[in-house]
Amino acid sequence: MPEIIVNNQQIQADADKHVIDILREQGIEVPALCYHPALTPAGECKLCAVEAVYPDKPAQIKLACTLKPTEGLEIRTDTEQVTRARTTAFRNLAKYAPESAIIRRLAEKHGIDMGAPPDECIRCRLCIRACKELVGADALKIERREGVRYVAPKSGNRCIGCGTCAAICPTGAIAQRDENGLRVISIRDEIIGQNPLLTCESCGRYFATPKFLSRIEARTEDHPHLKEHHRYCPTCAKLLSDRIKSASRMKKI
Ligand code: SF4
Ligand code: FES
Repeated sequence: MPEIIVNNQQIQADADKHVIDILREQGIEVPALCYHPALTPAGECKLCAVEAVYPDKPAQIKLACTLKPTEGLEIRTDTEQVTRARTTAFRNLAKYAPESAIIRRLAEKHGIDMGAPPDECIRCRLCIRACKELVGADALKIERREGVRYVAPKSGNRCIGCGTCAAICPTGAIAQRDENGLRVISIRDEIIGQNPLLTCESCGRYFATPKFLSRIEARTEDHPHLKEHHRYCPTCAKLLSDRIKSASRMKKI
């Protein structure tokens, strides 16, 4: 039985077993998707990367599912090199199967950063331009992450919760959720803005955020035909203005 070192602990290993099984017997979790103990290991997924140090040799990354223990072998499972190798392996697998939830779940369990998940954004920047040029909130930006451009929220909690970005996005990449009095606007798993919703003074339904209404009020302050600011939802505002118009028509008759 060869004596090996696993994460600084000396153990007697079964020479016939693969390192992945030896590690698991020690209670050390190793990510693996292509390994089955009943089959010859193929080393396909590369998730089971560990650092192996043979006596008098530099450390190298090996696959625990294909590696057999030999006298004096040292195995490390929690070094930076291991994390780097596993990150590459997880990301490569995600390229083959971007829809796979298990890859992301397993990566998360093992503390691997998978980067931003795939999204439906075509980088047209309509949302960014609308938010800046029309709304004036300037809450979005393009951010480069590991060579890939992503639409992302700017820092400083700038989103006013108007929903223009979600409405203008041609691919539906930006989501707007109105739930329990809160409007959440997000892209991928990132929140762009989270704003409370106000209720319509007439029908009582949630309809807009305070930041959005304040912006409208500020923008329309100098309007010559503005009579008063109100907090009605678009439907009630329309109904009320129709009623006022028909009442004034009646007066003229
Ligand atoms: S999120 Fe939508 S609107 Fe914004 S850049 Fe991507 S595709 Fe265009
Ligand atoms: S478990 Fe897939 S390469 Fe080792």
